[in-house]
Amino acid sequence: MTAFTYRQGDLACEQVPLREIVGQLGSPVYVYSLDEIERRYGAYAAAFPDALICYAYKANSSLALCTWLRTLGAGADVVSGGELRVAQAAGVPGGLTVFNGNGKSDAEIAAAIEGGVLSINADAVEELPRLAAVAERLGRRAPVTIRINPGVDPHTHRHIATGVTSSQFGVALAQAEAAYAHLAEFPGLDPVGVHSHIGSQITELGPFVETVDRLADLARRLMRQGFPLRLLDIGGGLGIDYHRWENTDPPTTQPLTPTDLAGALLPRVADLGLRLALEPGRSLVAPAGVLVGQVLHLKHGADTTRVVLDTGMNALIRPSLYEAYHAVSPLKAGTPSLTADVVGPNCESSDVIGRGRRLPALRSGDYLAVMDAGAYGYPLASNYNSRPRPAEVVVRGDRWWTVRPAETWEGLLQGQVGVMEGMGN
Ligand SMILES: Cc1ncc(COP(=O)(O)O)c(C=O)c1O
Repeated sequence: MTAFTYRQGDLACEQVPLREIVGQLGSPVYVYSLDEIERRYGAYAAAFPDALICYAYKANSSLALCTWLRTLGAGADVVSGGELRVAQAAGVPGGLTVFNGNGKSDAEIAAAIEGGVLSINADAVEELPRLAAVAERLGRRAPVTIRINPGVDPHTHRHIATGVTSSQFGVALAQAEAAYAHLAEFPGLDPVGVHSHIGSQITELGPFVETVDRLADLARRLMRQGFPLRLLDIGGGLGIDYHRWENTDPPTTQPLTPTDLAGALLPRVADLGLRLALEPGRSLVAPAGVLVGQVLHLKHGADTTRVVLDTGMNALIRPSLYEAYHAVSPLKAGTPSLTADVVGPNCESSDVIGRGRRLPALRSGDYLAVMDAGAYGYPLASNYNSRPRPAEVVVRGDRWWTVRPAETWEGLLQGQVGVMEGMGN
């Protein structure tokens, strides 16, 4: 079951043809399926009925999606004061919010404490004195979990592997007990649990199992030492199959499901008596979104044909940043007759959305959808080349509405001061 299918030759999100949306709003535009998010959240909730599912806001912190996930029951994993503010605006109680991140300002720490978050996940022992100082200033105790780097290779792209020993995130497992002993020296810090997040787009069970075993062992040791832990936060990282649109036979690797994850992990932590928390991002929202762009023209080079779109790395940087694969689908179905690179309009040679794609004959004015763009798409979008960010639209059944308008050329100038005006002050 997928939210994006061809209906009478038109690529549709649920029951809405995408051409209807671009017909009214123009392009580029991000379109998200609320049903797809609901199905995906439902799979987590069914597999982990007693766990706290804290949606990782970094995947997509658009208020509409965060509000929808809150309505479905999700908590929040936030990494900045801004994301915390979105979680609060989405109605997520502090008690269902974990505050992650490897560099928190005093203002962010204060906002987390005042917001009553379930846990502030410290990335380093060097953070502890500042957490304690802010807590003391506020006259509160800060709930703190230490992020552990378990030294597990998640077999994913090096830029999104965070649990390997060389990663910049977390406290090495070998130093974990010393870190908790240091934590206990601060009366203003309340040790809540243990945490790991080993990376993103993980498609094998092994790294999750290894991590959870190491984390559970650590939690047992700490509890034996008297730490009153309540939480085992195992992070996010479940991958999706970005290649599933290729109709290969046999199919490309099946992605892991939350059920697979629960089957492997829950028995290993059942004896601990800790509340389990997960922080899924990509696996909840990536397949729920597409980025639709318009074909400006086809450029027939000496050895390659390029389809030049009106959007690229400014709206979706994953292919340029991580060499990430995104399928590209025409809004109008057609028999593939063209092999082309699909490129964006930005002045960067890395602005390539996909190489060697099989597409139907295309003309200027046609539209293409970049699939699986719901995670790490809009939140990483920029104004590079002074391009406005696209609009965001959500679809539910046969209805759709804009949840964030496109930025405008005029809007890009807002708040800026020309240098001569500044000199006049
Ligand atoms: C601490 C933390 N938790 C959760 C996530 C979400 O990961 P994913 O989107 O792969 O589920 C991330 C992403 O990198 C993260 O850094």
